[in-house]
Amino acid sequence: MNLILLGPPGAGKGTQARMLQAFYGIPQISTGEMLRAEAAAGSTTGRGARAVMAAGGLVPDTILIRMLVSRLAAPNCARGFILDGFPRTRIQAEALDALLAAQGQQLDAVIELEVDHRALIGRIAGRFACAACGAGYHDTTKKPRRAGRCDICAGTDFTRRADDNAPAAQARLAAYHQETAPLLPYYAVRGRLFAVGGVAAAETVFAKIQALLRPCGHLGAVAV
Ligand code: AP5
Repeated sequence: MNLILLGPPGAGKGTQARMLQAFYGIPQISTGEMLRAEAAAGSTTGRGARAVMAAGGLVPDTILIRMLVSRLAAPNCARGFILDGFPRTRIQAEALDALLAAQGQQLDAVIELEVDHRALIGRIAGRFACAACGAGYHDTTKKPRRAGRCDICAGTDFTRRADDNAPAAQARLAAYHQETAPLLPYYAVRGRLFAVGGVAAAETVFAKIQALLRPCGHLGAVAV
């Protein structure tokens, strides 16, 4: 099953992609996480991307397309993938179409997560993660059960993303509206677009996505 999650920053793409990965047994591919890993490793790509990301801009298409082609060639993508953060431009969408066509594959669904602007800013501003295991939390909606201690690994060190501040979040939203939102009609005319309301508990949003994938015969690798 080949899926794309589309939506503005903070819409819940990463949250839903991780739930889909656990349920369907196909990998989440987050280009944002890949770029942050490159930046942390100090690679040429990462050094170039760091400032663009911190300012909320888009990293050049050539870099992203090269990264994605290499990642989709990995053996764990043989049964499918969940793209989280790619494509973000028309050029990226066309490159993905060409790659899938060359492999005789196609997209099963492009899921648009709809969340209003005010909720997005609140979600982004409150987000933090465990520095050790990466588990995600939020200042008001998802606090660790015991203050200052990760629920998953008991780590006590937490981080916030460099682009989770008001000016960068506004720039990310602007980039979404200018470059990425035009992909909604691009996929709609191809009959691949499904809109899902994203203002509800994460489990409720996930149930809606499962319901729309079921008619396509996708019942899940775990809970069939
Ligand atoms: P990326 O890492 O992809 O960031 P983003 O698109 O801005 O998305 P976020 O990770 O902020 O949000 P999300 O939708 O995943 O929401 P999440 O689940 O975390 O990209 C970062 C940067 O990398 C870009 O700005 C760009 O510079 C670069 N980049 C990446 N890909 C690129 C590409 N293809 N081309 C060019 N540049 C690229 O949830 C957010 C918060 O809300 C969390 O706290 C979560 O707990 C909470 N939450 C989630 N769901 C719910 C819910 N249902 N109810 C309440 N709270 C919820």
